[in-house]
Amino acid sequence: MNNFWIKLPIPFTVLAPMDGVTDIVFRSVIKSIARPDVFFTEFTSCDGIISAGKNISMQKLNFDPNEKPIVAQVWGSNPSNFYQTAKYVKKFGFSGIDINIGCPDKTVVKSGAGAALINNPSLTREIIKAVKEGANGLPVSVKTRIGFQKEQVEEWIGFLLEQDLEAISIHLRTVKELSKVPAHWELMPKIIDLRNKINPKTLIIGNGDVNSLSEVDEKHKLYGCEGVMIGTGVFSNPWLFNKTIKMEDISTLERLDLYLKHIRLFNKIWGEEKKPVTLRKFCKTYVNNFSGASALREKMMQTETIEDLVSLINNYKQNL
Ligand SMILES: Cc1cc2nc3c(=O)[nH]c(=O)nc-3n(C[C@H](O)[C@H](O)[C@H](O)COP(=O)(O)O)c2cc1C
Repeated sequence: MNNFWIKLPIPFTVLAPMDGVTDIVFRSVIKSIARPDVFFTEFTSCDGIISAGKNISMQKLNFDPNEKPIVAQVWGSNPSNFYQTAKYVKKFGFSGIDINIGCPDKTVVKSGAGAALINNPSLTREIIKAVKEGANGLPVSVKTRIGFQKEQVEEWIGFLLEQDLEAISIHLRTVKELSKVPAHWELMPKIIDLRNKINPKTLIIGNGDVNSLSEVDEKHKLYGCEGVMIGTGVFSNPWLFNKTIKMEDISTLERLDLYLKHIRLFNKIWGEEKKPVTLRKFCKTYVNNFSGASALREKMMQTETIEDLVSLINNYKQNL
């Protein structure tokens, strides 16, 4: 098995999968300023991948080999679709495959997928087995939460550790808690103890409320998890993985130029495939931490075309 997980530095960083955010364009922008040790794709439906609606799913699985190691994250509830998907993922050249067992979205949960699998260990076992068979040597991991209604670390994480996975990413909240309470990092020592007892080879990746590289080191030292996954922290500070640049030292011009780079890449990769208005929401990422940022964002949210957005940015740059 070509297992990239065991070659990573410890502690290692992972950019969290974020649907509608961490597509190939955003990941390329991140990579151009400082990359995490591991990238994940947005979560992608197994049923979509193997059905007629392939296009959207394939968009989500679009990646550049220079992004490696990159893991394809997939979701579903049908083991045979997972098996087929894992075969595709291996064929496409991904570094690994990850099963989403944490998504709280009502439609996903209703279909018996995502977080619903926390309440269905026997189906989860079947799915992991199917993915391993389809992945044929590609490392298999799971991203999950600490429980559904309440904390179930012992039974649920204990169960996953018995499935012999290469890595488990744990968003340290229950499904019920969504993202409304602080992440329960205090549970990490219990998780590490369990891992040491049940399956010392499985890497543990903690996730929730981490916003800097110094916090990554701190979490590793305090709790012993090998990796830390960062999501929204990067959405508001794309320079987060850079070891030398401090957020406060980045000029307005650099921020706006990075936004322009995102827009250029979006045009090049997606063209007409994705709606241009999806670009507007990224103004929160690039247009912040300078005086006048909020007023500029407001104007950006009113633009309808890419051309209008670009000329707004260029005009602003000229007056800096
Ligand atoms: C906009 C958005 C989209 C997300 N999409 C996914 C996804 O596709 N797959 C997944 O496992 N988690 C997804 N998540 C959850 C994140 O991966 C992560 O677990 C969560 O944001 C907590 O980490 P953070 O505190 O570092 O943001 C998403 C979160 C956000 C905010």
